[in-house]
Amino acid sequence: MKTNIINSPKVIQERKRLDKNNVFKEFVLDESYKNLGKDKTYYLYTYGCQGNESDSEKIRGLLEEMSFTITYDLSKADLILMNTCAIRKNAEDKVFGELGRLKQLKRKNPNLIIGLSGCMAQEESVINKLLTKYQNVDFIFGTHNIDSLPKILYNTMSNIERYVDVLSYEGDIVENIPIVRESNIKAWVPIMYGCDEFCTYCIVPYTRGKERSRLKENIIKEVEGLIKEGYKEITLLGQNVNAYGKDFVGFKYDFGDLLNDLSKLGIERIRFTTNNPKDFDDKQIEAIKNSSNIMPSIHLPVQSGSNKVLHKMNRKYTKEEFISLVDKIYKEIPNVSITTDIIVGFPSETEEDFKETLDLFKRCNFEGAYTFIFSKREGTPAYSYIDESITEEVQYDRLYRLNELVNEGYKRGNLRFKDKIVKVLIEGTSKNQPDTLMGYTENNKLVNIKGDSKYIGKIVNVKIVDAKTWSLDGEIIDDQN
Ligand code: 5AD
Ligand code: SF4
Repeated sequence: MKTNIINSPKVIQERKRLDKNNVFKEFVLDESYKNLGKDKTYYLYTYGCQGNESDSEKIRGLLEEMSFTITYDLSKADLILMNTCAIRKNAEDKVFGELGRLKQLKRKNPNLIIGLSGCMAQEESVINKLLTKYQNVDFIFGTHNIDSLPKILYNTMSNIERYVDVLSYEGDIVENIPIVRESNIKAWVPIMYGCDEFCTYCIVPYTRGKERSRLKENIIKEVEGLIKEGYKEITLLGQNVNAYGKDFVGFKYDFGDLLNDLSKLGIERIRFTTNNPKDFDDKQIEAIKNSSNIMPSIHLPVQSGSNKVLHKMNRKYTKEEFISLVDKIYKEIPNVSITTDIIVGFPSETEEDFKETLDLFKRCNFEGAYTFIFSKREGTPAYSYIDESITEEVQYDRLYRLNELVNEGYKRGNLRFKDKIVKVLIEGTSKNQPDTLMGYTENNKLVNIKGDSKYIGKIVNVKIVDAKTWSLDGEIIDDQN
């Protein structure tokens, strides 16, 4: 089979930041693609972060505009698309494992089309591996050109050729891509793409490109539309939402401004993720403090409690600066819950450094954390950091000890609400118990409640009767909604 490489990613180019202004475009679907998926079904895998979930909602939107219908039965799909994540090696291993299994399906159904997108598609080494060892993948596109999916799919389906179209440089900001959202209660709203931080362990600046912010008018229009459709909650997305607007040329408008403007639109709940401590400023803290619809729940990744390790990670803040930010947030927003991300086993991390991380966790009263063992990512500076003292045993031992503390943090965070009355946005029924409703409090705590399905999609007052490590149990106390 012929392989048509339109564009292929190069790490050297991905590292570069072109000094060009953002280009804003409106998506229009070419008429000739509208019936391409008639009588055809698609199955979509989504791996990774909320950014990828949001991208998948656009992929669904594009496919359904092209008349494809979703299927949840892999064996019935005419098109299988994998929207992948590259953040850690195990995320990639999962995808390669699944692609291996798909070879069988393709053998049974040679007309099956398999596509791969997302962060793995941006990796030079992954493309090389796919081209040589995974002949079952028919087309590949990256994170910068989701809007090209119709064209790539059309070319793949009409020419029976493999297509690779992955841009190394950040694409334009394309508005108006159709979206099929997973929920009709909560919505993702990307406010910016890419990342300019270059933490030494992280692949995101390479896979997602330069930091570029959406214009405020487009974000506001999207949120107004969501309010009209009855959405109760939005989560603003970006790799570093605190840096929103820093790329604007000729005018000033930042994340604090955006929070203030969005809060005035009157959506019931606003959340945002993820934050970078170095760009979290007083205006943003004020906005959260003064707006009852901006939720008091902040995810503030610290990564390590040792200044030496933070420096090697290129995090651009010290432990002391981080603590003073956390203290300020607690002082200004007294009811807030703060969670974090931590990496253990980063090269050069000694037992003493790790103990500083444990101390920092206690000092900051975190109410939860995502914890990770350092994973080497090709193309990043830390790929070549070598530290033989950190064996797998040391890594797992540190992760285990940290997680003990993190679990206590979850429990402590939940216990705060025992016997209190809290507002819960009811999202649906619990996975394991269909007679139990589930939802989240303003502080983002999961609550299980016995109750009628008429409450789904509503914000109700709930009395917390029990606090466990991972969830709360509650009883609905008012019927006003
Ligand atoms: N290894 C382990 N964890 C990582 N993260 C990012 N890159 C790596 C890596 N190479 C973690 C960070 C980040 C979260 C999204 O993933 O903690 O905040
Ligand atoms: Fe994974 Fe990062 Fe890409 Fe999200 S942005 S899919 S976490 S590599």
